[in-house]
Amino acid sequence: MTESRTSGERVLVTGANRGLGLEFVRQYAERGARVFAGCRNPDGAGFLSTLVAHREDRIEVLELDVTRRDSIDAVVNRIALDGDGSLDLVINNAGTSPRGEEFSNLHAASMTAVLEVNAIAPLIVAQRCHRLLVHSGRPRIVNISSSMGSLAHKESGRHYSYAASKAALNMLTRAAAHDLAPEGMIVVALHPGWVQTDLGGPHAELTASESVNDMLTVIDRLEPAHSSRFLTRDGSEHPW
Ligand SMILES: NC(=O)c1ccc[n+]([C@@H]2O[C@H](COP(=O)([O-])OP(=O)(O)OC[C@H]3O[C@@H](n4cnc5c(N)ncnc54)[C@H](OP(=O)(O)O)[C@@H]3O)[C@@H](O)[C@H]2O)c1
Repeated sequence: MTESRTSGERVLVTGANRGLGLEFVRQYAERGARVFAGCRNPDGAGFLSTLVAHREDRIEVLELDVTRRDSIDAVVNRIALDGDGSLDLVINNAGTSPRGEEFSNLHAASMTAVLEVNAIAPLIVAQRCHRLLVHSGRPRIVNISSSMGSLAHKESGRHYSYAASKAALNMLTRAAAHDLAPEGMIVVALHPGWVQTDLGGPHAELTASESVNDMLTVIDRLEPAHSSRFLTRDGSEHPW
């Protein structure tokens, strides 16, 4: 759908060196977008470097740790100096999920770290990118959430901090959506499905290519009426 809408758009992807983030970069660049690929360690981002070698004109790799304000601001400053300095789309994709978390071994510091990356950082990235987004004709902030953040779907234990962080991200998405609606900004939470990545594991239902292809269709079709919603990769509403 609407490749013409994506072509020429300016997109920031966080966590761009592997998994879904890498695939977002690949597919947006393929569709003609200008992609700012944020990752913590550009020197160690082999797959991303290979992608850039083929699409040097469309992809710029930027060092970005989403938990560090100076790192976010350096990225925002760089994008402001590129082209017309606008940004059409923020894909808050970077995320983390601790392994083996159970009731008996919960640890406050590690739980806080997960909340910081998955819930707080996306909102701070959005806040710092606001001055770029205001120059877009179609500004959107897409927070990659998870069905595991759904209170309605929580029918099992474990995954404490990951599930809580995504539930918090959903709430923060709604709050920001209401605040930014008067400026025409669309803010949504989007569940990618269960995907074969380091986080999703090898037995997941979808490849990253399939998931991102579907999410791009949803993102392309976003209208102000969608803002503040929790969506699935087929565009339907996910229960909170
Ligand atoms: N895979 C699934 O089944 C699934 C399902 C639902 C939701 N999601 C969500 O989808 C998003 C992408 O997940 P994925 O499956 O692609 O996971 P992944 O392969 O584990 O990739 C996670 C990415 O996040 C980055 N990251 C972590 N902490 C960061 C930080 N402080 N600053 C910058 N980047 C950071 C990682 O960078 P490093 O390489 O530097 O660690 C990596 O690029 C996440 O938000 C995840 O919660 C995934």
